[in-house]
Amino acid sequence: MRDLESIRREVAECDQEILRQLERRMNCVNEIIDYKKATGVPILQPNQEKRQQKALRALAAGNQYEDEMLNIFESITEMSKKVQAKALVHGNIALVGFMGVGKSTVCTLLKQMLAMDSVESDEIIVQRAGMSINDIFDHYGEAHFRDMESQVLKDLGVCHQTVISCGGGAVLRPQNVETLRQHSRIVLLTASPETILSRVKDNDDRPKLRGKKNVRDIAAMMAVREPAYMAAADVIVNTDNKSVLQICEEIITRPIAFGKGQNA
Ligand code: S3P
Repeated sequence: MRDLESIRREVAECDQEILRQLERRMNCVNEIIDYKKATGVPILQPNQEKRQQKALRALAAGNQYEDEMLNIFESITEMSKKVQAKALVHGNIALVGFMGVGKSTVCTLLKQMLAMDSVESDEIIVQRAGMSINDIFDHYGEAHFRDMESQVLKDLGVCHQTVISCGGGAVLRPQNVETLRQHSRIVLLTASPETILSRVKDNDDRPKLRGKKNVRDIAAMMAVREPAYMAAADVIVNTDNKSVLQICEEIITRPIAFGKGQNA
């Protein structure tokens, strides 16, 4: 039997080797990002991720530590995504825009693709109030909801590398825009009233749309809000006829230009 110290020395050597190889792997991830940025190749490639996972499973198959190995590689993949996210997104992304524009859906995919954290301002309001948004409006009125919203947006200043999905009315108060600007790049998602209607028509969770689920009323409300949305936006991404993946790709590529001092 080998003596304990010599086994431990070998473990330490393995750790050193793993560290070296992980650093090498992370450097490759950064190189891939630089390549994609320079050549305009899409940055988010879910199919590549799937291919890589399949290849890994094949590699690990039959290994005596197969499950453990795959677990480790899950973490490595997550950490690689974080490295990638840091190269692409500096700080938080605040998604704003009219109800039904797709903020939550985009938030979910961005979180998954870049292993970022994510938060929904409305969800925090509902948690804090212990009741639905409809009930907050009915029991306490819209002004109370808006005050809660302002406080939540301030509290989100503690977030880092987080996608923040804001309620559709969040940037109607200039003070909220100031708050968001302090910790986030503000991405305005837009869509036509027709697209909005098709997305909100079967949902009764939005008090502002009660009795207004028709193109004319939605268009009228959008027109009133438009100046506030435009004033708030660092980046504007139209979502009509685009897949969620395309929208996410636009979001992460356009702030890159913006972050380097060019207007997007
Ligand atoms: C609102 C939008 C809602 C929610 C509340 C008020 C608005 O969020 O904050 O019902 O005034 O636009 P979503 O945009 O996520 O629906």
